[in-house]
This record gives sequence, C-alpha cells and structure tokens, in this order.
Amino acid sequence: MTASTVITGIGSLVTNDPSLSASGGGTRGPRDPRDLLGLIQDAAVVVEGDRIAWVGESRKAPPTDNRVDAAGRALLPGFVDSHSHLVFAGDRTEEFAARMSGRPYTAGGIRTTVAATRAASDAELSANVARFVAEALRQGTTTLETKSGYGLTTRDEVRALRIAAEHTDEVTYLGAHVVAPEFADADDAAGYVDLVTGEMLDACAPYARWIDVFCEEGAFDGDQARTVLTAGLARGLIPRVHANQLGFGPGVRLAVELGAASADHCAHLTDQDVDALAGARDTVATLLPGAEFSTRAVYPDARRLLDAGATVALSTDCNPGSSFTTSMPFCLAVAVREMGMTPDEAVRAATYGGARALRRTDIGTVTPGARADLLLLDAPSHVHLAYRPGVPLTAAVWRAGKLAYAAPHAA
Ligand code: NIG
Ligand code: FE
Repeated sequence: MTASTVITGIGSLVTNDPSLSASGGGTRGPRDPRDLLGLIQDAAVVVEGDRIAWVGESRKAPPTDNRVDAAGRALLPGFVDSHSHLVFAGDRTEEFAARMSGRPYTAGGIRTTVAATRAASDAELSANVARFVAEALRQGTTTLETKSGYGLTTRDEVRALRIAAEHTDEVTYLGAHVVAPEFADADDAAGYVDLVTGEMLDACAPYARWIDVFCEEGAFDGDQARTVLTAGLARGLIPRVHANQLGFGPGVRLAVELGAASADHCAHLTDQDVDALAGARDTVATLLPGAEFSTRAVYPDARRLLDAGATVALSTDCNPGSSFTTSMPFCLAVAVREMGMTPDEAVRAATYGGARALRRTDIGTVTPGARADLLLLDAPSHVHLAYRPGVPLTAAVWRAGKLAYAAPHAA
C-alpha cells in the first residue's frame, strides 16, 4: 500500500481552487482576492504516492502514516514555468553589459548563442540543462517547459529536443527562432522556412509536444509564422508563439486565431490584441518580466489584460540573451511592482496560469487528485514572494509526492 503523509500546521495554503476557500469560497464577490487563490488558513494537505489525497483545515485531517509540521509557514503549488530556452552553451555577459550602457536589444544576438551551442558536446548541453532545472527547483519550480532554437540545423535542433526531453516532458520545437545564419547570409529566409516546415519538422516532431515561432521584426513575419505553425499543427504539435515582444505586430492575433496554447511576451498590444486574448478560449497571455528587466524595456501591462478578462501566466523565459534567470519568485516580484498585478494575481499566474499555458490540469493547484507538486515557503504567506524580493524563501519542494529539495537552513 502507498504510504500517506500529512503536511500539517500550514499557516496559509494556496489551493488555486476558490471553492476550497475555508472561509466560504463563493460567498464572497468574485473580485475578492482571497477567493482567487482558494486560501485555507491553518491547513493540512495529505499526499499519497505522487498525488494529493486530501486538503482542508488541520484539525479535520484524516490519519496518515507520516507527518510533516509546516510550523505556520505558507504552502502553495510548485511554480509552473511555461517558457524557457535552456538548451544552449556559453553566455552573453558582454552583450548584457553593453545593453546596460545603452545598446538596444535585437534578435540578432541569438546568433552568438547558436555558434556556441553548435560547438558544444551533448554532455555539456545536458549538464547545462540539468544545472538550470536544479536551480529552478531550488526556487520552487516543479514543472518547466523548454525549447530548442539555438541549433537551427536539422541535426542541432533534433539534438536540442532530445536533450530537453531528458529533463522535461514539456518540449517545444523552435526551429523558427531566427533565420539560420547560413540562410540569412544568403538572403534566403524562404529557404529556411521550407527547411523548418519540411525536413527539420519531420525529424523534430517525435521529440516535441509544442511548436513555437519568434514572430517579430528581425525574425519571422506574420505570413512566415503562420506557415510554420500550421505545418506544426499538421504534424500534431500545438502552437505557442513569441508574440509582440519588441514591437507591435501580428503575433498575438495569429496565436489566438490558430488556437495556440499561449501568446508569450505581449509587451506591445493594441486594443484589438487585448480583445483577442480576452475572447480567446484557450490562448493564455504569458508575460515574461525577466526579458523586459534584462533588456531594459517597457514591461507588459498585466493589469490591462486581467481587467479585460484574459488568462495570464508568468514565466521566466530563461535564456542567455534576454532573460538569464530561472527565478519565478524574481519574475513574480517584478510583475507585482511593475506590471500592475496584485501579489495574489501574480502567484496564481505563476502556478495555475502556467499550467493553463501548458494545457495541464494535473498541476498548478493543490486539490485532491492533483500531482503533489508543492512549495513550502520560509514565510507565513505567499505575499512574501513579492514583499521580500531577492530573498531565498524556499523551505522545501515536493515533486510528484517526493521531497525534491529542502533548504539547508529549514530542516
Ligand atoms: O524569448 N525572443 C526570442 N527569444 C528569446 C531571446 C533569445 C536570445 O536573445 O537569445 C526571448 O526573449
Ligand atoms: Fe523566449
């Protein structure tokens, strides 16, 4: 029989299910932020195997084999980081330093990482991904999507996806990150799109769940992006789009039109774009504050999207060019301070929102039947994630019911 464990004495539990809110859930108006997170005070969670078996007030918890005392600290779902680019070699320290002295960010920097990634061994690339996944875990991330996109040949893109798949189930084919240097130098973007939608797609599709395209000036225009995404759809890959990051453009509307799981970045939105996202059944607006932070760009307006009714996710975009952070708490704090989100909205976006952006119903909540992916904070409330920026607050992380990380100071 599977052993059961109760985590008890949870000062404040984020379930992300308003109907579980101990103080009445639906009796409050929908705008009450306490309902958004389905908070339970003085709570307990029972874990059986890899799943959550029971959630409620501590005093009502059923008997279990084992017991962990949270000692009044906050527990929430592990973060779901639905957008990262971890398969790469080298870094771009100099480019970052130059940017901080005034140079603008452009898509062209991707080439530097492509050269370093192609030159790296499989073992080196895999070790890099493992290091970043472990780094993310220590900060509370229990699910992470990652992309190819620094290979840009059939061989190198397949290699990136194969390596990504060793570390996560959420793998995205991003052959259409920029036009590969060989094709760009020959002024043959069309030839590269043919490759990305032909031989490269055939080779990559078995390793990926998602297909992505960087729809932006300097990368791929709306027509090219549509060609890439529809080819992916025909091979059973689900679209997600790098959209409206550096300027206005067709990316967001294309994402919604094609039923993409997510439109990512959304930093430059017209009213039409916002309406499209608000009316979308299945397309999440994923905001990536690390990118605007590290490129010193204008942050997306999360308030505008939330007020319009869009589903919002927060994610790191971890990559060596525009956002070299694996820290969901950092992104969440910036989103609260700079993007008009309340702490509750940011926590929900970084957990439930990320799960929606990955079309996952088994993660992102602390509810019976969900996978037991849990983050115990060294703090009495999830609000501390934004209130105490830059402070490591992870006490422990469980992934699929197993203790995956315990902070040395928080035994
Ligand atoms: O999401 N925008 C496109 N891709 C990455 C940046 C890649 C790079 O600069 O290496 C992003 O920001
Ligand atoms: Fe990205």
